[in-house]
Amino acid sequence: MSIRTLDDLLAEGVSGRRVLVRADLNVPLDKQSGAITDDGRIRAVLPTLGALVEAGAKVVVCSHLGRPKGAPDPQFSLGPVAGRLGELLGAPVHFATDTVGESARSTVADLADGQVALLENLRFNAGETSKDEAERGAFADQLAAFGDAYVDDAFGAVHRKHASVFDVPARLPHVAGRLVLREVEVLSKLTADPERPYVVVLGGSKVSDKLAVIEALLPTVDRLLIGGGMCFTFLKAQGLEVGTSLLEKDMVETCRNLLERANGKILLPVDVVVADAFAPDAAHDTVRVDGIPSHRLGLDVGPETVAGFSAALSQAKTIFWNGPMGVFEMPAFAAGTRGIAEAITKADAFSVVGGGDSAAAVRALGLDESSFGHISTGGGASLEYLEGKTLPGIAALEN
Ligand code: 3PG
Ligand code: MG
Repeated sequence: MSIRTLDDLLAEGVSGRRVLVRADLNVPLDKQSGAITDDGRIRAVLPTLGALVEAGAKVVVCSHLGRPKGAPDPQFSLGPVAGRLGELLGAPVHFATDTVGESARSTVADLADGQVALLENLRFNAGETSKDEAERGAFADQLAAFGDAYVDDAFGAVHRKHASVFDVPARLPHVAGRLVLREVEVLSKLTADPERPYVVVLGGSKVSDKLAVIEALLPTVDRLLIGGGMCFTFLKAQGLEVGTSLLEKDMVETCRNLLERANGKILLPVDVVVADAFAPDAAHDTVRVDGIPSHRLGLDVGPETVAGFSAALSQAKTIFWNGPMGVFEMPAFAAGTRGIAEAITKADAFSVVGGGDSAAAVRALGLDESSFGHISTGGGASLEYLEGKTLPGIAALEN
């Protein structure tokens, strides 16, 4: 792989130069207050930003947040992120209230050496995510005008063919930042030659989101443990009744086929926590998977499942985990996710936590981040990497 790195750029000298950094500052926000509930992605980009500040660059940071529809939408403003980034850097971050307009132009023009600016949400502009090359290119031209060099440190977005990820690096000298390099280095260990047994735990709500990665991993892994909302479609495929649990009816046949081809590698829950409703205070019980009442829905895996999955994890030498085992945001349904996370930390294995949700779960449950080998900042990105797909953001750095 012929990718130039931040160190190559620093070696050229960046003092007084404008360096445009694409970061993934797409952090979860509290629905009511709008407060940042997990700043892991902001902290993850500090090594790159710190090095540029120290070297005297004029640092222009850009990112998306959420999925606004190509026009300004205050609930997705990066303003609060600018504040938090400034706290973590220990220096004010100059926030532009637009992305490529008058505010952005003057904010960038006024930067002194070693100062940091953050542009408003890239996705307030239709050009960022456009499928039309010319529309994307026109927006990329405007962004590229803010930098003399470009650093991609947005690992969580490298699977998106967006202007700031794919088209800007074609217009500026470009390098990979520290976070992107670390993520690729770690994930490549999983695809190259993982130490065995290699055990993968998948959760989260949708089978359809995980299908490609299950297909890609089946030949490679020794065990695939499946929990979370998506397990009910697999249980249904085994002929079990799942009550009012999450079910993707059009995926049942696919799941049946996967189970047939899995040669016993796939482990499913044997017990689940079922509730009367999707609510934190709903009445709930643990039942065997062949005894799910027709009027109740499964919101977590049960203790016997945790024990069985933990036993498989205790043998592992390499572990990849993506997706919570249950609705961990509600304490009544958090035990499954907590139990699996703890089993991963106890295993004598190289462990990688993939994804926004699972990484947020680790921190929300108060688990020690340092007891995992690596916590990825990319959900979709790490899954697509493991699928062996070409990632537009990485491909753009290779040229
Ligand atoms: C993520 O949260 O997965 C990344 O920030 C990418 O966001 P997206 O899925 O909205 O493109
Ligand atoms: Mg996503």
